Amino acid sequence: MKPRHFLSLFDLTPAELQHVLRRAAELKALHRRGERYAPLPQKVLGMIFEKASTRTRISFEAGMAQLGGSSIFLAPHDTQLGRGEPIEDTARVLSSMVDIVMIRTFGHTKVERFAACSTVPVVNGLTDYNHPCQLLADIQTFIEQRGDIRGRTVAWIGDGNNMCNSYLEAACQLDFGLRIATPPGYEPDAKLLERAGARVELLRDPLAAARDADLVATDVWASMGREEEQQRRFQDFAGYQVDAGVMAQARPDALFLHCLPAHRGEEVSAEVIDGPQSRVWDEAENRLHAQKALMEFLLLGEKPGA
Ligand code: CP
Ligand code: NVA
Repeated sequence: MKPRHFLSLFDLTPAELQHVLRRAAELKALHRRGERYAPLPQKVLGMIFEKASTRTRISFEAGMAQLGGSSIFLAPHDTQLGRGEPIEDTARVLSSMVDIVMIRTFGHTKVERFAACSTVPVVNGLTDYNHPCQLLADIQTFIEQRGDIRGRTVAWIGDGNNMCNSYLEAACQLDFGLRIATPPGYEPDAKLLERAGARVELLRDPLAAARDADLVATDVWASMGREEEQQRRFQDFAGYQVDAGVMAQARPDALFLHCLPAHRGEEVSAEVIDGPQSRVWDEAENRLHAQKALMEFLLLGEKPGA
């Protein structure tokens, strides 16, 4: 049987996503109560990181340990991948030895090529194109704080980057409205915009995007791999900071989310990220719970106890 992968939010049906989000909340409650839940004994997660990470690495590694399994961290320069071994060969070999694989890399086609040759589930831990695991945590955070996200309005302010693309995927799959404000030239993926159709509005003005929003989200102006563009981006993104003025346009009970790492004083003011509407620490913690639910789903299906 072909393994299920999670390379984008479209790899799960909306009902499956809702299941994973519900399980994430249940697993969080179990964890909080200190109850052991280890349905993946002896399962091994292989993790390939071609970019830096704090949250993704720790949440996957801790999550797999809590579920009863273990994980192997693979840095590109310690493996033959860094010396040019084809990704397809690596996929065949790695997937013959481990039970599930997580990859963080640059080009999205690399995870697709890996997945095409893998005999075990592959999870996208961020590419230049998208960051679906982060969206599981973001949506879990919104739901636990404010209830169902369906029909709500989310404002994305700043770079139309991998996170913005995954917000578009989420808007399609979970049926919420998305207003995106980017400077010219920094728009998200055109195909995803088209797929989101009437659910998405592309604007230039951050204040207009934030108006009456239930959730305001942003991310760094220069993502990993774009560091050399930093100076130009600082100029292009002037006026796109999520500050108190932007939040004042949103609903009074609007939340602020940021996947982290954040640059205070650039894409977000300290007042907002450290303020009462921010839920970034819950959001970061939820990476753990959401990905445990995801790994449980990919390895055991929807009825892990049955
Ligand atoms: N949000 C996120 O993916 O963080 P890391 O880069 O630290 O993994
Ligand atoms: N857009 C950011 C997200 C980091 C988690 C990046 O790709 O660097």
